[in-house]
Amino acid sequence: MKPRIVVFTGAGVSADSGISTFRDSDGLWANYRIEDVCTPEALRHNRATVIEFYNMRRRESLTKKPNAGHLAIASMEEWADVTVITQNVDNLHEQAGSQRVVHLHGELMKLRSERNPELIYDINDGWEQSLDARAEDGALLRPHIVFFGESVPMFDTACKIVSAADILIVVGTSLAVYPAASLVFYVRDRQVPIYLVDPGEPDTAMIRNPLTHIKERGAVGVPQLVEMLRNEFAK
Ligand code: APR
Repeated sequence: MKPRIVVFTGAGVSADSGISTFRDSDGLWANYRIEDVCTPEALRHNRATVIEFYNMRRRESLTKKPNAGHLAIASMEEWADVTVITQNVDNLHEQAGSQRVVHLHGELMKLRSERNPELIYDINDGWEQSLDARAEDGALLRPHIVFFGESVPMFDTACKIVSAADILIVVGTSLAVYPAASLVFYVRDRQVPIYLVDPGEPDTAMIRNPLTHIKERGAVGVPQLVEMLRNEFAK
């Protein structure tokens, strides 16, 4: 039986591809205020600023490529049953070849109706959402992003996936944003090993499972970890 591996990623996994994290000293939240660009209130009262912020993120992301960390995660599918749960809105896991990717906080390359959350559209061309673009129900389009203060529709799905994991790998997240960070508590039991790849000090104080912290950046630490697991599990 293939081991079931769940990989839970944050902005740090894309840092080595040149995408800014949020809470590092050079991170996005050092230059923008969350309440100006990432809340439902901001979208209501400051629509142009919010749309422009995500247009810039989208334009920037189009030039980025997966790094060795994304690629190593995708490579595990040769010998393991792998699901990626990411907080990231970029599509670098998909570009790296990962087949099952759950986006907890939405996707940059999608827009949706402000009225009907089921009306979701892929952006197939370019990066720009125009301010007056509308969905087919007539409502304005908005970025398909989970703003602060909004519920996280994929959270229950993610919990179920984590609870079936034999191994949980966490990469590049400060574990500061809930409910996403609480996923680490949904492992089946206290024996499930948790590996963390992060050059910083994410908030792991509450984790009671066996925890191995590889204090490296993603492009270095993830391939090392994957090689170690491959030697242990690949037949
Ligand atoms: N490789 C791996 N990890 C890295 C690297 C790197 N090269 N550089 C930085 N990191 C780590 C940092 O040490 C930190 O632990 O990535 C983490 C980034 O943390 P945050 O900026 O808080 O990003 P994240 O945890 O993904 O944020 C969660 O917050 O604003 C929201 O919605 C946004 O999904 C995001 C959520």
